[in-house]
Amino acid sequence: MIDLDPRAVVAAKRDGQELDPKELRAFVLGYAKGEIPDYLAAAFLMAAYINGMSDRETADLTRAMIESGSTLSLSGVHSPTVDKHSTGGVSDGVTLVFAPLAASLGLAVAKLSGRGLGHTGGTLDKLESIPGLRTDLSPEELERQVEAIGCAVAGQSKDLVPADGALYALRDATATVASIPLIAASVMSKKLAVETDLILLDVKAGSGAFMKTPGEAADLAGACVRLAELHGRVARAGVTDMSQPLGSAIGNALDVAEAVRLLKGEERGRLRDLSVAFAAEALVALEHSDRQEAGRRAERALDDGSAVERFARMIEAQGGDPRVVDDPWAVLAAAPVKHSLVGSPGYLVAVDAEGLGRAAAALGAGRMKKGDPIDPAVGIEFFPKIGDQLGADEVAVVHARDEEAAAQADRRIREAMTIGDDPGEPPPLVYGWHGRTEGETG
Ligand code: URA
Repeated sequence: MIDLDPRAVVAAKRDGQELDPKELRAFVLGYAKGEIPDYLAAAFLMAAYINGMSDRETADLTRAMIESGSTLSLSGVHSPTVDKHSTGGVSDGVTLVFAPLAASLGLAVAKLSGRGLGHTGGTLDKLESIPGLRTDLSPEELERQVEAIGCAVAGQSKDLVPADGALYALRDATATVASIPLIAASVMSKKLAVETDLILLDVKAGSGAFMKTPGEAADLAGACVRLAELHGRVARAGVTDMSQPLGSAIGNALDVAEAVRLLKGEERGRLRDLSVAFAAEALVALEHSDRQEAGRRAERALDDGSAVERFARMIEAQGGDPRVVDDPWAVLAAAPVKHSLVGSPGYLVAVDAEGLGRAAAALGAGRMKKGDPIDPAVGIEFFPKIGDQLGADEVAVVHARDEEAAAQADRRIREAMTIGDDPGEPPPLVYGWHGRTEGETG
């Protein structure tokens, strides 16, 4: 370790100088070990937030974060491996569908997921609403399960990228989360620490995402893909719409029930379409499949029962009750109070997806700070999409613990909808893809 004056690193970033790679590395590793105090790291993060970071500095930061812990090689897995990550959204159940779907197509999905924070949901919380299911798999268990079944979804072990755990908590506490280089380094350090053949990124744009515009999301997608390339890894990043909930379920047990309906081919819509698009992207990148044919294969796997069969095997392997695929509500906890809402006449013009996520969190489905407990049974089902005509039909169902909480959620749902006379233009599902597959130049 070099002899470092951490104040010099803070001062260099404050003054807009490009950081020395060795000093930046020593700063990050020193912070992860507890040798550099929070106040210096907080000052550094604020300077980086305000002055930005060059591609080279972002790459150095990412490398140092990876070096702060162990990595996972997946050398015992013989199928092409893929990891998929979303930057966070509302009713974003893609992982629950994508992992078993891709496994049923012959790929191996090793997915380290996170918990929900603020208005966004977390895959681990959703899966843990299945009684008995464990997400604390050891690296060896994860690898064995991926080899045997083709998919595993688990929490990140504490020794994988510990610098991100420490820095993320500090960013959360110092209003320095929303910085493209800091988010790119945080996301990519975790993806690069797991040695998969392909990294798929779902970079969300819109009212329910960190990045509110497709342009900002494209900048983040580009930064993440460049980091993968610098590490000799293949990444594809889709910039996808989060200007409204992707599916209809905003909660935990509700999301599992929705994923089961999709995996059984019983439900159509944007969540199914995006899960299919990611599965097709993985087949194109890893098997050089024709894109249209890859999409058709993914659709078939949802409709012929192969995807849901993988889901049942994954649930069982992780200690959960696999009957959840036959009759979800025989297994999942249901909320005692259900309120149905109907819309007012007009078209749904816009949705405050973050507002809906916060309404579900206020019911108990999410947490406002790390470590808060969540209630798996509560949440919101929100049915219409932008451009739909509303009338006497049900627009939402609130699943709550008591009447008072349900009434408050009703109010928040109404506030989150903009209703007008003109249907306007529904947003696309995918704004664009970043990163190269073989034979492509862009
Ligand atoms: N998700 C992450 O993993 N890190 C960030 O900084 C933001 C979203």
